[in-house]
Amino acid sequence: MIIWTRITPIEQITKQNSSEVAPIWAAWQVATDANFKNIVVADGASTDASRDYTLKVDVRGLKAGKTYYYRFITASHTSPVGRTKTLPKGTTQQVKLAVVSCSNYPAGLFHVYKELAERSDLDAIVHLGDYIYEYPQGGYASEDAAALGREVLPANELIALQDYRTRYAQYRTDPELQAAHQAHPFITVWDDHEVANDTWREGAENHTANEGNFIVRLKAAIQAYAEWMPIRPAVNNNIAALQRSFQFGDLVNLIMLDTRIVGRDKQLDLANYFTASGFNAPAFVGDISNPARRLIGAEQLTWLEGQLHNSAQTWQVLGQQIIMGVMELPAAIVTQQLSIAEFAQLAQLAQIAATQPELLSPAQLVQLQQKGPLLRLGNLPYNLDAWDGYPVERANVLASALEANSNLVVLSGDTHNAWANNLTLGGIAAGVEFATPGVTSPGLETYLGLNTQEAILQAEAAVTQLIPGLQYTNLSNRGYMTVTFTPAEVNCEWVFLDTVKSPLYSVDTSRSKTISVAVNTNTIGA
Ligand SMILES: [Fe+2]
Repeated sequence: MIIWTRITPIEQITKQNSSEVAPIWAAWQVATDANFKNIVVADGASTDASRDYTLKVDVRGLKAGKTYYYRFITASHTSPVGRTKTLPKGTTQQVKLAVVSCSNYPAGLFHVYKELAERSDLDAIVHLGDYIYEYPQGGYASEDAAALGREVLPANELIALQDYRTRYAQYRTDPELQAAHQAHPFITVWDDHEVANDTWREGAENHTANEGNFIVRLKAAIQAYAEWMPIRPAVNNNIAALQRSFQFGDLVNLIMLDTRIVGRDKQLDLANYFTASGFNAPAFVGDISNPARRLIGAEQLTWLEGQLHNSAQTWQVLGQQIIMGVMELPAAIVTQQLSIAEFAQLAQLAQIAATQPELLSPAQLVQLQQKGPLLRLGNLPYNLDAWDGYPVERANVLASALEANSNLVVLSGDTHNAWANNLTLGGIAAGVEFATPGVTSPGLETYLGLNTQEAILQAEAAVTQLIPGLQYTNLSNRGYMTVTFTPAEVNCEWVFLDTVKSPLYSVDTSRSKTISVAVNTNTIGA
């Protein structure tokens, strides 16, 4: 178990140069009770400027499947008491994980974290990335930041080590986030914004030439992540190797993946395939289905295959960042020639024209003549930063899961919206995917300009109908999901909030959703 704290030196509070502060020593204690009557392990450790005064202890010798309390004590201060829980061993009847992603400080308040802090039924919180965002003041999703008192620090975009450290430190001043860390263990992976938007192996969409060497920036981002997150330092000093697995007794093998940094080739861009004569489908299909194209990389794939094949647990669960389900939409929608609503309306007209054309008005017939051909364009993936941009590697992962007879459950974040997908390979059920909405980042409701509840519900129904594997979506609410595993089934429950833009909020129970999947079916609705 990793226990974590940060000790802010007095010199740093008074804005003196903290790099010359002597190392700070702290005692730490782990007990079975919150009053520390029964301390089971205790020792001391020191921290200094080289790790931004963060302090991590890898506590050994704890019992399996037990709740523990911990605190740190310096010469002048005692920390708040943290609560944590070790992994169970042996026969395990239930595991309940909360899953979150995309917590953007200037975009809203961290009420989702407060909701999680108040729960007593969780084994762990799984954070699938975008724990911080790298943008400057006034950047992405910052329209309400000033009004909310949440303008980011530093004011500039994060580039250097000190920038990333300052941003993590600001996030960690948030009382709702503090409460969540205090109440539960976190299992985390980074997504792109812990570095820069749409990160891949050697670059990022939001890294420009005038921002210096990308690899230097990447190293700074990874160092700050390693300092500020309660994560075990990876072996062989390679803190960039984030893939690791957690065994919850005989029930769940939680396999955490890095889809960003170790293996990912650069994202394709649909705009590059439009020529004067239209969309160059052969070139696009050739590039996207190139067998050499990598997302998690050969080494991590081999490791993942080993995890699937050797897992003695009932459920094999991937904790990773991006949507794995096939999310293809009609090309006219993807290329923004038609909105989802226009497409649905036009499709309806086309259906009537085929059977009862006399019902259509002259204006509707003209509309069909003008825009109808757009209906006949094929489907295109709408997000090439997701697994849809790397279909060969996705097929390899699903093939391995099928070979290993896995009960595969993929947990995803990244989109800021809730989704549930059936994952299939050649028509065979290979697994299910549950995707968590963002903690604060705006979702498709903003991109699609869905301003009324009616428009939101219509878009959700249309998208679910247009995408064969998609079983459910919520396109408008921030929130989180709990995923509960038992020997018989996995149960995903989405919890949505009515707002993250005001201190007053409530859980929007009208939008709550539960999906259960029976063991050995790999199918929602089986
Ligand atoms: Fe995000």
